[in-house]
Amino acid sequence: MNKRKILVTSALPYANGSLHLGHLVEYIQTDVWVRAHKMSGHNCRYMCADDTHGTPVMISAAKAGLKPEEYISKIHKERIEDFKKFRVNFDNYYTTHSKENKEFCSLIFKAMKEKGHIKEQEISQMYCENEKIFLPDRFIKGTCPKCGAQDQYGDACEKCGATYEPYDLTDSGCAMCGSKPVLKKTVHYFFKLGDFQDGLQEWLSEKHVQNEMLNKLKEWFGEGLKDWDISRDAPYFGFEIPDSEDKYFYVWVDAPVGYMASTKNWCDKNGEDFNSWWKNPDTEIYHFIGKDIVYFHCLFWPAMLMCSDYNLPSKVFVHGFLTVNGEKMSKSRGTFIKGSTFAKYINPEFLRYYYSCKLSGTTSDLDLNFEDFKARINSDIVGKIANLGVRTSAILSKRLQSSTCSIAEEDRELVESIKAACPKITELYENLDYSKAMREICRLADTANKFIEDSAPWTLIKSDPQKTREKLTAALEIFRLLILYLKPVTPCLAETIEKYFNITPMTWDSINESIENKTIEKLPHLAQRIESEDIEKMIKETIEENSNEAKKETIEPLAPECTIDDFLKVDLRVGTITSAENIEGAKALLRLKVDIGGGIEKNIFAGIKSAYSPEDLVGTKVVIAANLKPRKMRFGISEGMVIAAGEGGQNIFLLRPDKGAKNGDKIH
Ligand code: 2FM
Ligand code: ZN
Repeated sequence: MNKRKILVTSALPYANGSLHLGHLVEYIQTDVWVRAHKMSGHNCRYMCADDTHGTPVMISAAKAGLKPEEYISKIHKERIEDFKKFRVNFDNYYTTHSKENKEFCSLIFKAMKEKGHIKEQEISQMYCENEKIFLPDRFIKGTCPKCGAQDQYGDACEKCGATYEPYDLTDSGCAMCGSKPVLKKTVHYFFKLGDFQDGLQEWLSEKHVQNEMLNKLKEWFGEGLKDWDISRDAPYFGFEIPDSEDKYFYVWVDAPVGYMASTKNWCDKNGEDFNSWWKNPDTEIYHFIGKDIVYFHCLFWPAMLMCSDYNLPSKVFVHGFLTVNGEKMSKSRGTFIKGSTFAKYINPEFLRYYYSCKLSGTTSDLDLNFEDFKARINSDIVGKIANLGVRTSAILSKRLQSSTCSIAEEDRELVESIKAACPKITELYENLDYSKAMREICRLADTANKFIEDSAPWTLIKSDPQKTREKLTAALEIFRLLILYLKPVTPCLAETIEKYFNITPMTWDSINESIENKTIEKLPHLAQRIESEDIEKMIKETIEENSNEAKKETIEPLAPECTIDDFLKVDLRVGTITSAENIEGAKALLRLKVDIGGGIEKNIFAGIKSAYSPEDLVGTKVVIAANLKPRKMRFGISEGMVIAAGEGGQNIFLLRPDKGAKNGDKIH
């Protein structure tokens, strides 16, 4: 056999939030394909990683009170556990925040620059003066300029579908703090995508993308390929652009490069040669993606590869989105289900099977309908497949000393006809037409079940034990073949059967093996029926999770309105802490002296001991309420109040003035 060298990737999931059933469509689709190719004996490797950079990850980390590095490493651990549950078996699962990725990004950028495909250009971008960051479109909200819908993102309106620039929104606000963003000038790097127009047009054929995507791509060519802004300003969690000042690669530059970095990391761990994977015309590279990121994978990415002389993708496979019960996944309906929550209540392999029943290699959306899901699993996996093996092996072990015999001549034809389906089924897997493959396997299972019904071993055993053994041997052989055909989809079920039959891991060649003349123990219960309560419990838990999350995000209610005059009664001043001491007998308080200029030093008792040590405070600039009426406390008189925010405990945060503020400055 011609052993092919095949590199496969799924889109790298953002290291932001949990893996949900929508994500899993792609990982399951890819994993099934990879497993099917591995079973053919090809050198097929599956690479993936967390997509760790960019503003959203940076902000989620800050919200969680963690450094971005800590946050992504926490997500990484969770991811690995989730993928394990769903049997998504990467050869390497890495991170884009790696030295390998940084090197490849620099290398590719250098090639872009040297070949004249980079230009610098001044642009104006929305900037939040409060948060001091440039805001991505998704971090600006406001009213749609077309239809007036409120609370829309800065790039497109979810109500009317209009697309626009973030500054077109009326009453726009920063999604984090609500303040009005301003337009600020900055110089960015642009990749001149138009330079690759001819190369891309030549590459974009049905050989490399599904036909249905070609029309969309033609439209984009028709509109003209625009230069691509590949840089972002600090602060940004990502890789600094070499020889630039405070400019970072936009996350979408280093994300696909992460495919290479993950391969490199795997090569180094396994003594493989990286160039034999990414600079080798004999290696095939396949990317599995959703239809929302086609522009990146069919235009930007191949252009980056052309520019830096790496292999172009052999094909980009695009799939549709998941709907649940016919609608977009929704937090309030409890259909935005995390993989880990699903796995608590339902066997994850059932989802693999159900998605496979729905996937046919097109870009159409697929629906997870829970009624249909339950009915299909209970009928196909439990009723047709598992049951066939369990009831067959039960009679054999109870009544026929657990031993099989040779398959009788009269039953050979049936067994052979099941074997004959193997090439067709493998081809369906290769063409991503899993739904047809599942239908074919179910059709074969129906034949096998009919064979058992017709043979009626439970009656036959009374008159002809040997004939019964022959019938059960044939049925068990067919059962093994069906499990083999399902193996890319239900690998766990296959492993259980391999263990029970005491056979080596099955590949497509295993159709030629046999379970004749063997001792076969009674199979254990293989698959539990899905009950409506399992689904209900899962949805209930999902609703609870979402409402807890929402609660976490609710802020303390605002105090009743006050007038500006009320506010100005409080004289807020900048001061420096000149001394800070623990107080004997005081649990929460520290004694501070704060110099507010003009020779005035205030003695303040502040309840910040749980968050700050005295030695860390001396020299710190703070803001105090300076005209509070002195208050007699247990340990002395307090002459003001240090301003701090937070929930208490370790979460107390002093309000510190920006650089340049002097003692005594009044806050207006
Ligand atoms: O759309 C997404 O979820 C991205 N994180 C996909 C990145 S794919 C690749 F380019 F890394
Ligand atoms: Zn609108």
